[in-house]
Amino acid sequence: MDGMTETMTRPVTLILLGPPGAGKGTQARMLEQDFGLVQLSTGDLLRGAVAAGTDAGKAAKAVMEAGELVSDEIVINILRDRMGDDDCARGVILDGFPRTTAQAEALEGLLAEHNATVDSVISLAVDDAAMVERVSGRFTCGGCGEGYHDTFKAPKVAGTCDNCGSSDFKRRADDNAETVAARLEAYHASTAPLIAFYDAKGTLTTVDAMGEIDAIASHLSTIVGKVAREG
Ligand code: AP5
Repeated sequence: MDGMTETMTRPVTLILLGPPGAGKGTQARMLEQDFGLVQLSTGDLLRGAVAAGTDAGKAAKAVMEAGELVSDEIVINILRDRMGDDDCARGVILDGFPRTTAQAEALEGLLAEHNATVDSVISLAVDDAAMVERVSGRFTCGGCGEGYHDTFKAPKVAGTCDNCGSSDFKRRADDNAETVAARLEAYHASTAPLIAFYDAKGTLTTVDAMGEIDAIASHLSTIVGKVAREG
C-alpha cells in the first residue's frame, strides 16, 4: 500500500502464527504501517522486561536463552498489561502470542471483557530447514527497531539504517543455530496445535511464507484489507 493507511471500521485483533524466522515481526511491522494497527510482540515485551530487570524479566531470561517457552502466567500478565494501553484501542497485530492453547483461551477471556473476539489468524507456512539461515542472519536497528538480514534484507547503504540513519545494529542472544533448533521444537510441540484450534473457529488463513518479503506482504495486505472493510 506504499505508506497509505487503510482505516479499520472498528478495532480488530489479528494473530500472526509461525515458527521462528517465519517473518511474523517483518510482516507485522509492515501491516502496522499500512493499517494503523499496533504490533504486539510478546518476544519484544519479554526482552524489554529482561533489559529492565523486572521480576518477570529475571524469570524469563534463562528460559529464552534456552529457546524454551516462558510460563503462560508471565506471558499472559505481560500481554494483559500492554493491551490495556490506550494505543491498543486502535486494534492489534499479535506477533508471537498465543503460543499455547492456555494462552489462546486466556486471550479469548481478555477480549470478551471488551466484547471482542479474534478477527483473523494468519498462519505463515515455511520450511523449518530455511529458518536457521533466516534467524542467524537477522539484525535490527538499535535506533528504530527496523529489522534486517545479512542476505535477504540488507540496508541500502551498508552499516546505516534505511529508516533512521542509525549505525547502531543489534543481534539477539537467542539467534544461533542451537537455540533456533530448540525454538522450532517448542513451536511444533506447543504452538502448531493452534492451527487446528483456529481452523475449527473459521478464522484461519494459511499463507505460503517462503517467497519474497514484499510478495508475502501484498498477500497479507489483501487478507487484512478484507477484514478492515468488512469490520
Ligand atoms: P520471539 O521474539 O517471538 O521469537 P520467535 O517466535 O522465535 O520469532 P522470531 O522473532 O525469531 O521470528 P519472526 O517470525 O518474527 O521472523 P522475522 O520477521 O524477524 O520469541 C523469543 C522467545 O521469547 C521465545 O523463544 C520464548 O522463549 C519467548 N516468548 C515469546 N513469546 C512467548 C509466548 N507467547 N509464550 C511463551 N514464551 C514466549 O524474520 C527473521 C529474519 O528473516 C529477518 O532477518 C528477516 O529480514 C528475514 N525474513 C523475513 N521474511 C523473509 C522472507 N520471506 N524471505 C527471506 N527472509 C525473510
